[in-house]
Order: sequence, then C-alpha cells, then structure tokens
Amino acid sequence: MIPVELIKKKREGEALSPDELQHFVNGYVNSEIPDYQMAAWLMAVYFQGMSDSEMKEFTRVMVHSGTVVDLSFIPGIKVDKHSTGGVGDKVSIILAPLVAACGVPVPMISGRGLGHTGGTLDKLESIPGFRTDLDIDAYKKTIEKIGVVMIGQTKDIAPADKKMYALRDVTATVECIPLIAGSIMSKKLSEGIDALVLDVKTGSGAFMREKNEAIELAKTLINVGDAFGIRTVGFITDMNQPLGNAVGNWLEVEECIRCLKGDTVQDLMEVTYRLAGAMIYLGEKAATIEEGESVAREAIESGAAYEKFLQLVNEQGGDTSYIENPAKYKKAQYREEVVLGMEGFVREIDNYGIGLAGLVTGAGRRKVVDSIDYTAGIIIHKKIGDRVGKNEPIATVYGNNRTGIEDAVHRVTKAYRLSDSDVQPPQHIYGMVDKDGYNEY
Ligand code: URA
Repeated sequence: MIPVELIKKKREGEALSPDELQHFVNGYVNSEIPDYQMAAWLMAVYFQGMSDSEMKEFTRVMVHSGTVVDLSFIPGIKVDKHSTGGVGDKVSIILAPLVAACGVPVPMISGRGLGHTGGTLDKLESIPGFRTDLDIDAYKKTIEKIGVVMIGQTKDIAPADKKMYALRDVTATVECIPLIAGSIMSKKLSEGIDALVLDVKTGSGAFMREKNEAIELAKTLINVGDAFGIRTVGFITDMNQPLGNAVGNWLEVEECIRCLKGDTVQDLMEVTYRLAGAMIYLGEKAATIEEGESVAREAIESGAAYEKFLQLVNEQGGDTSYIENPAKYKKAQYREEVVLGMEGFVREIDNYGIGLAGLVTGAGRRKVVDSIDYTAGIIIHKKIGDRVGKNEPIATVYGNNRTGIEDAVHRVTKAYRLSDSDVQPPQHIYGMVDKDGYNEY
C-alpha cells in the first residue's frame, strides 16, 4: 500500500478498510511511515472523522499494535478510570491508591500532557525516582503485590498510542472523537481490566467544550468498551476552571498528598469520591455508587489510601521521603503573584488560557522532545464565584524561566472575567452516562 494514497483517501472523507488501517498504524509503529505522513493523516481524520465501524476497527488495530495483558490470575474485578483530560486534573493520583485501598485492583495506563492539559505520567515522574515505564512482567508483579500499578504506554503495551499521542500533542489533532476513542480505549483494552469508569470533561479547559459533545464522546467510548466486553460507565464533569488549585506537575502531586491525608479540596474530592464510588461499585465491593463513596471516604479518613500511595511510590522506585516531607522538594527559582487590580466576583475563567499559561511556565511541552520543569506551574487562589479584592492575588505563578513566567502572568490575567454581583459556582458533576444513555443530575 502507498501511504500517500491512504492519506488522500481519508482527506476525501472515505473510510479506510481494516487492512489499510492496520498497514498505516503498524507502519507508523515500526517507523516505516514517518511522523509527517502520520501527522497529515491525523489532520485528515480530524476534519473528516471516522465511521462507527472504522473507529472500532481503528481501536482494535491500536490495541493489537502491542500485547493485551492477561490479569485473570489476579482475583477480583479489575477496574480502571480514565479522564478525557483537563487542567489541574490530578484525580488519578488520588483515585488509584484510594480504590485499591478499598480492595478493588486498579491497573492503570495513563498518558502524558496533551495539548493544553497535563498528564498523569508527567505528574508521577515529578516524584524523584518514580518509574512509569515498567515492563509487562513488573506491571503484573506490582498489581499482584499491592493491588495497584500506574504506568504509561510502552513499546509492548499500546505502542501505537505511545507514538501517536506524542505526535497529536504537538500537531493540533487532539480534539477529535475517533482519535480520542482509539487513544483512550487502546490503553484501557490492553491493560487487563474488567470494568472502566470514564471522566468525560466539558468546558473551556476540556477537549469537548460543549456538554452535548462530551455526552457524545462518553457514549462513543462506552459503546467501544461494550463492544470489547468491558463494562463501562462515564460521568460528565466540569472543566470550566482548574480542578483543585494546583496546575503543574509537582505542585499537583503535593495537592494530592494533602488530599490523601484528608484535606478537602472541594471540587477535586467531590469528583474523586464519585468516580471512586463507581469503581468500588463496579468492583463489587459496594452495592451502590453511593455506598462506594462512603467506603472511599472511610479509606481516606483511616489513612489506608495514603498508606497505599506510599506503597505504590515505593514499589515503582519513587523516593517516599518526598511524599512524607514534600517541603524538601526543590522550589522553582521565581514566583510571581497575579493581581488584577480590580474587585468583584469571578464570573468566568478561560481554562484553556490557564492550561496554556501552565505550559509556558515550563510545566508542559511545545515539541515532542521538550523536557518538563516539574517545579513550574500555577496555584489558583480564586475560582468561579469567589470574591476578589482590588489588590488580592488571584493566582501565583512558579517557574525557572523569567520570560515564561511573564507570559504566564499575562495569560492568567487575560483568562479571568469579574462581575460586580454574586456569581454561582458551577456544578462539578453534570450527570452519568451508561449503555442506556445520559442521566442529568
Ligand atoms: N486522553 C487520552 O488518553 N487520549 C486522548 O486522546 C485524550 C485524552
């Protein structure tokens, strides 16, 4: 097959056959197809989309670009969660050890930062020594030993997504339902799970800005999950402002440590408990999602979730002294407070702008080969509905590059809109989607 013909076919809006998809995706994995041809094809998919059967076939090809791990030797229902991505979305780092502490095995394959959003792998790798590149054997041994494991796509597991994800990140080809479906579901269908909970984000910091698009994405992902025999449910959650207060890798891990120790960061923990409740319910350790939420709250209060996180960090090579004493982590060289010089109530935050502000501090990548400054990022002090005094900081920006900091301060300033009168904070969870459709809360 001639790659340019397959790019042209997609550009003209035709569906590729299973053989063609296999040829193109596998050709990319083994480097016979270069980045520029894959980038052109991804952009063609972005504009032309995929038919339902083409998308399922694409997902199948992506799954089988590597090994499908068999975890049937581990007792219990294995359950994972995946988010479609957002700004300050650090839920996985709290959720995986939390659910594992409740007796549900959690094998998790995550991604790096994508577009303006952060990624669980980059956040975990900000913990000195933490390894996310375990081989299949170590992956299996870790989940067997401690009931939780958190890794990235490898050359053996979902390798097509490993390469395509990094390329999409820097070619403006992220916000596309079939590409997101293939990417998320290839990781999830390879990792050996029985059930999956999806956190589908909507709002200015999400890939699906409109709620109806998020619902459509959730339905698509659930449909793919069901087609592959994985019980899948999804929640539509808000991404019109950062989740929690920290944006940036180590800053987010620090916030997670506090939450695992019982601090209540309201929006972050509301979403975390709901997703945990659903995972614990699907893992048959609770009779309902609500009961699952109570089980999860107890695991935080008893310290079991925090202990499980320490175990996870230790098992994957991380230095737990930084978890026990986060103050010893090196600090960013510069910090700058963002002051609007106006007073009022926060009416709106352009969360995409906040995501880009985080990126320019050094917390994200502009090119595939860029390295990340783990200490860089933003702490948000004012969220939607909060009152801001004239000289009160709305955020603090951290980093090691002065130009990046100035750029970030400018972007954060531009992202905020104030109102003279009271503003209602947004709902954090809009509803739930399962195979029967969408239920609004
Ligand atoms: N998360 C993923 O893993 N892939 C996407 O394409 C978007 C979010």
